[in-house]
Amino acid sequence: MNFSDSEIVASVMTSHDFGITTDPRDADVIFLNTCSIRDHAEQRILNRLRELQHLRRKKSGLLIGVLGCMAERLKSDLLEDKDLGMRIDMVVGPDAYRQLPQLLMDAETGQKAINVLLSADETYADISPVRYAAGGVSAFISIMRGCENFCAYCVVPYTRGKERSRDPESILLEARQLVEGGYREVTLLGQNVNSYRWPGNGNGRHIAFSDLIGLVAAIDPRLRVRFATSHPKDMSDQLLYQMAKYPNICKAIHLPLQSGSSSVLQRMNRKYSRQDYLDRIRAIRDILPGCAISTDLIAGYCGETEAEHRETLSIMEEVGFDFAFMFKYSERPDTLAAKKYPDDVPDQVKTRRLTEIIHKQQALSLKSNQQDVGSLQEVLAEGPSKRSESHMMGRTSHNKVVVFPGNGILAGDYAGVEITGCSSATLKGALRQKGLQQ
Ligand code: 5AD
Ligand code: SF4
Repeated sequence: MNFSDSEIVASVMTSHDFGITTDPRDADVIFLNTCSIRDHAEQRILNRLRELQHLRRKKSGLLIGVLGCMAERLKSDLLEDKDLGMRIDMVVGPDAYRQLPQLLMDAETGQKAINVLLSADETYADISPVRYAAGGVSAFISIMRGCENFCAYCVVPYTRGKERSRDPESILLEARQLVEGGYREVTLLGQNVNSYRWPGNGNGRHIAFSDLIGLVAAIDPRLRVRFATSHPKDMSDQLLYQMAKYPNICKAIHLPLQSGSSSVLQRMNRKYSRQDYLDRIRAIRDILPGCAISTDLIAGYCGETEAEHRETLSIMEEVGFDFAFMFKYSERPDTLAAKKYPDDVPDQVKTRRLTEIIHKQQALSLKSNQQDVGSLQEVLAEGPSKRSESHMMGRTSHNKVVVFPGNGILAGDYAGVEITGCSSATLKGALRQKGLQQ
């Protein structure tokens, strides 16, 4: 989401005659687009800000701005906090990026430059993001912003504000332009994409996420479509049927679980039980056999007992996740959890539980990859592999990374690759066919 937002920021700035540089020493203004999801993320940003103070000493007039969730969470404290031991010139929340050029002028004249107003309707629908990442194969399209789920541990509803969906016409236009520009994959992005909903202009019918993804997939069979992230409570059968209908909608679902224990899920305000989650997994397996499933897990949430932790390990086994992002619980100030439950699992216990979860997932990922060995996979090549210039790196529909000998395959090409080996993190393959496999 931040990556996608930075492309919007780049677009706002370049349309006001600013250029982008990849070398901070060349910059007249540096924006850090920040994350507040865990304390660790914020600490890393504070360290980066401290490093940047060295540049300021070398270059008078250099301006430094903090953008995004940390700006929204800490507001004017970031401008005034003496404890930070550094100067920050601009503080701009996630809904105020259109104001950046004006705020920059304020900062240049030594005024306070802060805008942390959250909006009920800003979606940046008309701003076409500047795609400055290398590659030109895969792009993010932000389709909705904000979140109102209020999971007890999570800061996002406070920093990103109310849920709002973007006009489908602007989404389709962006997707078509990407295809024309040679892109072969889009990821539809939102904090909770399944609650996407566009009211329609008076003719009564609204557009749900399952409709939208079909419209995007219908643009071009060469365009792969992915999406993130889904909340289990909104993961509809209609969406699964739509995925089954279009070969170019990738067969990979990221479905954050957080915990395998119903009592922990209740304290997290996740609004589903262990069984509810397993029922959604059953629906996925029934409607989309072979679909990859990945998840997010939190170790050591408030009050988590050893037995509750073991329920997370056992559900991991039961579902057989192909991939997971795994975190230690990090208390965020002012969230429901911070107000209601003490952060009472000692840090060593959190670490040990997280390690157990990671080990379990490594074994599951390895098993999942081993099952692919011998199969022919349709791979979308993204570019040369990191290790060797003669090898290409690409992804399967299941979102697994494959490294294979290039043999004339270019970034953006499809290839039929036979999987010949694997580790828990990557597949190795041999080129068998060129072009789309469907
Ligand atoms: N502590 C640890 N992990 C968190 N996440 C969200 N908030 C926290 C927190 N306070 C994780 C969840 C979510 C992912 C984006 O980050 O697993 O799905
Ligand atoms: Fe945070 Fe829950 Fe919203 Fe995800 S769904 S952003 S975890 S509040």
